[in-house]
Amino acid sequence: MDKQPVKVLFVCLGNICRSPTAHALFQTCVNKYNLEEKIIVDSAGTGDWHVGLPPDKRAQAMALKNGYDMSHLRARQVSPSDFIQFDYILGMDHDNLHDLKQLKPSNYQGVLGLFLSESGIESAEEVPDPYYGNEQHFENSIKLIQDAVEGLFLRIKKDHNL
Ligand code: 4NP
Repeated sequence: MDKQPVKVLFVCLGNICRSPTAHALFQTCVNKYNLEEKIIVDSAGTGDWHVGLPPDKRAQAMALKNGYDMSHLRARQVSPSDFIQFDYILGMDHDNLHDLKQLKPSNYQGVLGLFLSESGIESAEEVPDPYYGNEQHFENSIKLIQDAVEGLFLRIKKDHNL
């Protein structure tokens, strides 16, 4: 039986630091389990300042240092149609979630929440914005994202019998 793929969207403010990192790490997990056709991954920003651009150089460098190449990703802005497409829409912080709730149609049936909380992480709710920070802030971001990705993957696999 052909089932529709499960679609997962990671959202931050600019779509150049946190959400592309989550996108790249989660995609790696999906690929490792050969589920590329069953789980579709994407990312977007609530803002439009960086649309069309690759991830921030510092985020790319931190990803590469941890074994992930995300140079092919390009920023886009989240849109109301994402609520038709995506089963999971996961914000990196409370501001992202607040903005997403403004866009959410009342009949949205999917999971709209915080990435860390929906992944089962209890020690933190937000992936803090590293954009105005230093290398330490980018390292903190990727560590939080790394911790959460596997929990989210296992949850989605279980929720959808994959
Ligand atoms: P992101 O980081 O939301 O993790 O992509 C930011 C990127 C750009 C800006 C803020 C945060 N900005 O103000 O341009």
